[in-house]
Amino acid sequence: MNFIPYGKQSIDQHDLDSVTETLESDFLTTGPKIKQFETELCAYTNAKYCIAVSNGTVALHLASIVLLNKDDKVLTTPNSFLSTSNSILYVNAKPIFVDISKDGNIDLDLCEVELKKDPSIKALYAVSFSGNLINQKKLKYLKKTYNIKILEDNAHAIGAQDGDIKAGSCANSDCSIFSFHPVKHMTTGEGGAITTNSKEIYDKLILLRTHGMTKTNELLPWEYNMTELGFNGRITDFQCALGLSQLKKLDTFISRRIEIAKKYDQAFNNSVVKPLYTFDGKSSYHLYVVQISFEKLNTTKLEVYNKLREKYNIGLQIHYMPINKQPYYRSLGYGRENTPIMDNYYKECLSLPIYPKLSVKEQDYIIQSLFEILNAKL
Ligand SMILES: Cc1ncc(COP(=O)(O)O)c(C=O)c1O
Repeated sequence: MNFIPYGKQSIDQHDLDSVTETLESDFLTTGPKIKQFETELCAYTNAKYCIAVSNGTVALHLASIVLLNKDDKVLTTPNSFLSTSNSILYVNAKPIFVDISKDGNIDLDLCEVELKKDPSIKALYAVSFSGNLINQKKLKYLKKTYNIKILEDNAHAIGAQDGDIKAGSCANSDCSIFSFHPVKHMTTGEGGAITTNSKEIYDKLILLRTHGMTKTNELLPWEYNMTELGFNGRITDFQCALGLSQLKKLDTFISRRIEIAKKYDQAFNNSVVKPLYTFDGKSSYHLYVVQISFEKLNTTKLEVYNKLREKYNIGLQIHYMPINKQPYYRSLGYGRENTPIMDNYYKECLSLPIYPKLSVKEQDYIIQSLFEILNAKL
């Protein structure tokens, strides 16, 4: 069997044609494809405004400049990629790591405990982990009751839905971000976006994306005013051409991911392999995470991980190492938070391959190989 990674892009002739057409056009960057991509993302997510940027980390950084002030305390999750909490540090604000729930998302009840304890907390950065949209009812309640800023990191969750609420709609948050890295649901190579329903936030983000520069009618034609310390956070037109073409196929990609997830759910039913959650109609399944009590099976995560990779050619991933225990965070005094669910989750979690092009034969092989390894230990 050829190597099976945990995630992979799906590129077809239509994608190639869209990119080529833009490469042959007048604009490689700052052209019309960017606005077109943003408009389509608004239509898809039901958000009023969208700003496409060079990657998800830049999306988080720019949103944090707008939402936070120096020394603001921000509740966030240890179960994410580094960028979520790094973006809080970029603006000299202070992440407070809160334990996760059994579904891998930040525990919003514990967030409320923190908010009650410390009314000076200013914001919540919630990740819809693996594509499982964060509880919107609770988000709405926290925003209203405690008057906090909320950012939804939906890097895993484009296409996820909770009732009528779509990931990125910002129905109960100030901003939402996406990443279009190749392992995500749809790709622009590198790329990201921020959605919001606030014109004020949108205007600030537009400024920050391009060096804090504005042009007004009062200026001479060649003049511009720099009113903010901005960045170059721009995405190119040919990346947006790819994004537009990918967006057309997004729902098909997600349907295939859900099919794969359902098949894993069935295969692991009543076994030692426990899905993080079974399909409930909400998740857009960026990741398919299982938990295994390796100790009880007289094995270790490393042994299973290595065997699947070396003997069976299957690439697993681990999402995530707790951010608060990273050396840099430890150097800032983090790492000793009371996060028993996260600590146990990290011991047990494995992300299995899931992406639209994963074949039925490959998925059967993954399931069979995992059981083969575990059965040898039972
Ligand atoms: C939850 C989460 N947030 C943010 C990011 C950052 O996105 P990017 O890689 O596009 O910078 C990622 C990327 O892996 C992610 O998984």
